[in-house]
Amino acid sequence: MKIYIPRDAAAKALGADRIAAAVQAEIAERGIDATIIRNGTRGMIWLEPLVEIETDQGRIGYGPVTVADVKAIFEGDSDKSLGDVEQLPFFAAQTRLTFARVGKIDPLSLDDYQAHGGLAGLRRAIAMTPETIVDEVKTSGLRGRGGAGFPTGIKWDTVRLAHAPQKYIVCNADEGDSGTFADRMIMEGDPFTLIEGMAIAGIGVGATKGFVYIRSEYPDAIEQMNDACDIARKNGVLGDVLGSGHQFDIEIRVGAGAYVCGEETSLLNSLEGKRGTVRAKPPLPALEGFMGRPTVVNNVISLATVPVIFEKGAQHYADFGLGRSKGTMPIQIAGNVKFGGLFEMAFGMPLGDLVNEIGGGTASGRPVKAVQVGGPLGAYMPVSKFDTPFGYEEFDRQGGLIGHAGIVVFDDTADMLGMARFAMEFCAVESCGKCTPCRIGAVRGVETIDRIAQGDTDAIDLLTDLCDTMKDGSLCALGGFTPYPVMSALQNFPDEFQSAKEAAE
Ligand code: NAI
Ligand code: SF4
Repeated sequence: MKIYIPRDAAAKALGADRIAAAVQAEIAERGIDATIIRNGTRGMIWLEPLVEIETDQGRIGYGPVTVADVKAIFEGDSDKSLGDVEQLPFFAAQTRLTFARVGKIDPLSLDDYQAHGGLAGLRRAIAMTPETIVDEVKTSGLRGRGGAGFPTGIKWDTVRLAHAPQKYIVCNADEGDSGTFADRMIMEGDPFTLIEGMAIAGIGVGATKGFVYIRSEYPDAIEQMNDACDIARKNGVLGDVLGSGHQFDIEIRVGAGAYVCGEETSLLNSLEGKRGTVRAKPPLPALEGFMGRPTVVNNVISLATVPVIFEKGAQHYADFGLGRSKGTMPIQIAGNVKFGGLFEMAFGMPLGDLVNEIGGGTASGRPVKAVQVGGPLGAYMPVSKFDTPFGYEEFDRQGGLIGHAGIVVFDDTADMLGMARFAMEFCAVESCGKCTPCRIGAVRGVETIDRIAQGDTDAIDLLTDLCDTMKDGSLCALGGFTPYPVMSALQNFPDEFQSAKEAAE
């Protein structure tokens, strides 16, 4: 008998290790022939710790499990039984391509990985030329899942065509956006898929060395990636890749806790051992990246999606989605929401359906007021924009961005002026200090919002002007995108900025 108990950090935070110990004790006491597998999470975080028992009727789930529930599960009369986990509506409604194995397999078993389609994409890529590998990625329509949505195949081609004695693949795992956890879930739940994606990228562009830059706040992911790389190396996935003659190896590096190190040039500086400040572009990292060499810098999800594209074919992937937003997106639903977690779906679902039908509305039971999409630099989308389909261009047309696809839900008690202030304060704290609009603008932004809060509505024009300057004059997205949350709060909830005056009078 196989019993699955997640080792994912979210499940562990909710007590999964204690449950694993209690299940182990129960197995010993009853003398049952059972193995505990510490899998990734299925992404239904409100059900964690979720215990699954393999049966002839599928994997039967129990959750959220407490230590006190364990005995009843073994006695067959648990009131936490959920039935077949893959038939639960939240799970069954998904199109899992990138996350197909997460929660299903033993993350550190290469056999389990291969039994579920792992390495099939890499084997196919090995038989292709670098040019056809890159063409396959172009055909898939995959765009950068870190936030900017730049076509991955075009980025790879720039690196492939560059002439240099050494090229690199750098995976950006500095997942700093509030309400996002997809990168962490992949690294903890299916690390070989990221390794496989990086190896395909390396062969495609002619890079022999890769780095995964992981934020220090993810100790479980760091450990899992290090262990997975060791296993991949010992089994010939890294090194001489599957005996193909292509050399590729990966090193795991740990960040030191700066949000701006998620910006690619800042990350490269940090990786080189320098202070994490932003570099001016051009030159693009694709031409002069790590140590001045051509470098692919891709987000975890972009690289982890590559294996399924090669396994199932680029057209299969491109057939999902909407317009120029091809394929699937792992949406991370968080904040004040009933059913928080990871929901992978083809682009196109209206935002309101994600919040109300999939997420079940607010956890507080109060009406939804707004959702912030795309991290701390994303716009606050009001309920009136809930018919916006989830896609890059569709959100752009509504003055928003999908970013890394984190959705944070707020109910009607949210203070939007306070949220606008928080955005400016966040920028002031995290600014690398390289350019004036951000370094000084964010501090002035906090002061200006404080003036509005004290009833000085004339300062609203000043705030608008300041946001225009930050948007147009900042060197990177931190200063350049902070106006999104600020201006969306101001434009969609103007009364809260005006009413400060009445409150003050
Ligand atoms: P960008 O638009 O400057 O660049 C996008 C990517 O395309 C970069 O890798 C750039 O080097 C590459 N690129 C552009 N033109 C190219 C060309 N001709 N050939 C090859 N490569 C080319 O955007 P940036 O500043 O890299 O990212 C901004 C995004 O980051 C925002 O949309 C924001 O949502 C997101 N973000 C994500 C966070 C996270 O935690 N995942 C945190 C903060 C921001
Ligand atoms: Fe640094 Fe801010 Fe300028 Fe970006 S916008 S380069 S974080 S000062």
